[in-house]
Amino acid sequence: MTGTDLKKTFGFFSVSPEERRRRIRALFDAVAARYDLMNDLMSFGIHRLWKRRFVSRVVQSLPQGGIVIDLAGGTGDVARLIKRRRADAEVILVDPSVAMMREGRARHPKCLEHVFMVAAEGEALPFADDSVDAITVSFGLRNMTDPDAALDEMFRVLKPGGRLHCLEFSTPQWWLKPFYDLYSFFIIPRLGAWVAKRPEAYRYLVESIRRFPGQKALARKMRVAGFSDVSWRNLSFGIAAMHEGRKLAAGGQ
Ligand SMILES: C[S@@+](CC[C@H](N)C(=O)[O-])C[C@H]1O[C@@H](n2cnc3c(N)ncnc32)[C@H](O)[C@@H]1O
Repeated sequence: MTGTDLKKTFGFFSVSPEERRRRIRALFDAVAARYDLMNDLMSFGIHRLWKRRFVSRVVQSLPQGGIVIDLAGGTGDVARLIKRRRADAEVILVDPSVAMMREGRARHPKCLEHVFMVAAEGEALPFADDSVDAITVSFGLRNMTDPDAALDEMFRVLKPGGRLHCLEFSTPQWWLKPFYDLYSFFIIPRLGAWVAKRPEAYRYLVESIRRFPGQKALARKMRVAGFSDVSWRNLSFGIAAMHEGRKLAAGGQ
């Protein structure tokens, strides 16, 4: 939803940015152990196909030996896939939730063995200017306290010529909306109650998707942060979308 200052919301509630940050942090710490299972159940496993397609795009433009930050990397789905496709890449998973990262390491010790993990937030990345080749952020931007500030930070740490790849829930095509809404508002919170014992966490998920900018509005935000050649591709009729943008090198290359 455009016109809404996301940093003052938690789902459909209005809260202070500090409260938003606190609640989102507590939420992911609480669901960490059930996060992967819930993703599989809620999406019938489709999130795995989306992530595979997303990573195919990412590795296409990644230079040999390139450095990639998987921001809001959670339990490491995207970081693992990148490392599997490109063993030469240096992959750094960044997430403020140690519980999510710990869960990923415990579940996939071998695949994440060579992935660095850093506890930090997208709004204050502990990396130098112009230092990384690509940033991936999968279902993460929506959960940041201040997505606009995080986009500015991503732009800062990318090398000239580097790319931001964002996979996020978006606005589905009109004909799908009634079914999607029914499923989202009635089934997902019940699944969250049953499997994760956290209905409120999954109510937040559904509401935060409704509040997040759609395809065009997110592209606009990326351009405002400085990205060029911004484009997107819909997945599953717009339920999710992959956005991409480039930080131009000096001279506009
Ligand atoms: C829905 S999960 C996505 C995890 C993973 N990328 C995936 O696709 O499965 C969102 C993640 O965003 C993280 N997160 C929340 N606030 C953040 C912030 N300010 N900066 C970076 N990550 C944040 C959470 O801890 C959580 O792991």
